[in-house]
Amino acid sequence: MISQINNIIGDNHTKSKKNYMKLLIKTGDINKLDVDALIVFAWENDLSVFSKFNTAMATYLKEAGTHEEFEGKEGQFLTTSSKGMISAYKLIITGLGKKDNFDIYEIYKNIALSLRKAKEFKPVKVALIPSEYWLEKYPVRKIYKIMVEASYLANYRFSKYKSEASLMKLRTVEELIMYTHPGRITGAELGMKEGLVVSEAVCFSRDLINEPACVTTPEYLSKVALSESKNSKNNTKVNIIEFDEIKKLGMGAFLGVARGSEEPPKFIRLQYKPKNSKKKIVLIGKGITFDTGGLSLKPVEYMETMKLDMAGAACVLAIFNALNQLSVSVEVVGLIAACENMPSGRALKPGDILTAMNGKTIEVLNTDAEGRLTIADAISFAVQKEKPDEIIDIATLTGACRVALGEEIAGIWGNDTKMVDLLVESGKNSGEKVWKMPLEKEYKELIKSSIADVRNIQIGRFGGAISAALFLAEFVSDISWAHLDIAGPAYAEKDTSLSEKGGVGFGVRLLLQYLTTK
Ligand code: BES
Ligand code: ZN
Ligand code: ZN
Repeated sequence: MISQINNIIGDNHTKSKKNYMKLLIKTGDINKLDVDALIVFAWENDLSVFSKFNTAMATYLKEAGTHEEFEGKEGQFLTTSSKGMISAYKLIITGLGKKDNFDIYEIYKNIALSLRKAKEFKPVKVALIPSEYWLEKYPVRKIYKIMVEASYLANYRFSKYKSEASLMKLRTVEELIMYTHPGRITGAELGMKEGLVVSEAVCFSRDLINEPACVTTPEYLSKVALSESKNSKNNTKVNIIEFDEIKKLGMGAFLGVARGSEEPPKFIRLQYKPKNSKKKIVLIGKGITFDTGGLSLKPVEYMETMKLDMAGAACVLAIFNALNQLSVSVEVVGLIAACENMPSGRALKPGDILTAMNGKTIEVLNTDAEGRLTIADAISFAVQKEKPDEIIDIATLTGACRVALGEEIAGIWGNDTKMVDLLVESGKNSGEKVWKMPLEKEYKELIKSSIADVRNIQIGRFGGAISAALFLAEFVSDISWAHLDIAGPAYAEKDTSLSEKGGVGFGVRLLLQYLTTK
């Protein structure tokens, strides 16, 4: 039995970007899977997966395994030609390590690593057979969703600016087959469709981050948002608030940051409202389309990657592509205060005082701590105009968070323990790592200003990620709020299992997981 998944739902985005893979589901005899590479998984001290194959292949695998000392340990691969014993050309057996210490993240990682391994053989058709043990521990739907996401994310490339000649050399996976048993087809299909929607959203966000800042200006982001409202599948309304109205609204902090740039700022609002929604959640994405630091100019090597500073905005925009298709039942409003942070004759100066939309005054001592200024006004807007049940902001906010948690883990703060815990749980369930950080009251002293209500940087050198979160908390009032600092994981400095160097699309999986379980 064979059916194709991505004919059923949209694939316009990835198709046009050369990342398109035909996604199929297949049942039947695994010995007869006619592919270039077949991937299966083995556990440490449990190589029972060999016996899934016919006797000749199983015997050969046992011999090869002994010869190559393959024990199913984490990171071990046994790769072999099938020598005509089965229809697949190459067989890749990925070691998963011990059964007792695996989680969702490990499943993502191992599938992605297997696909990367398979790609060494330049296959056109690849088939994946999930571990039976995964299917004992998690629902079928969940595992097939992960299989699709991990494969798509590992296969993603930002190739738009590569010349055709160098692209021709790359053989890419054109067909991806997920193997299953007849009894699991319904669950597998559902999971694969969901996985495809999520994957497309993550790739959409990666594309936006990877585009250079000369393309992704505030205006460009506003056009991307508007195009989402034109897609009938999205069930989304979009309005762009222009300079004059931003001024009328009193967003002095946001306009202060935007002042140095030739590019006009845009305040972007997206709204997804399903019938009978019982809750309203506001998502705010940091949308600094390029962060030079402003007059507090960044050193050359720190500025190199600062097109990434709209990764929060990219995440929010990507999410709106998926809400309707995933039948999210809560109302979601997305807010992006998009601008550049540039030095110029008009630019914000250290020592300037700005007034935010909620009336609070801010002494700007470092113009490079600009994200919190723009988000302060977006939060104030959410509180005053949207009156939501929850606010979540996602931002490449501080280098300090990157220092504290590294390049894999985002920091999370909030004023509602239950909500923060649910977000941490959503991270675990979607394979994106978040770590709970303290909103330490004692440190509030450090952001008090002598001449205004707050300073935009703390006194002293330490705890920069916490003081940034405390700064944002000043604008929240009593609404449930969580803040995700993704300065570490938003951008990969080198290739990882699930991402090539560049934009990671961090937060899309996590927040879609959170919103679909609401
Ligand atoms: N956009 C940066 C934070 C950042 C750094 C994101 C590295 C991703 C990777 C932010 O606007 C910034 O410059 N923060 C300053 C704050 C400081 C001046 C208090 C920082 O972290 O150095
Ligand atoms: Zn900055
Ligand atoms: Zn920034």
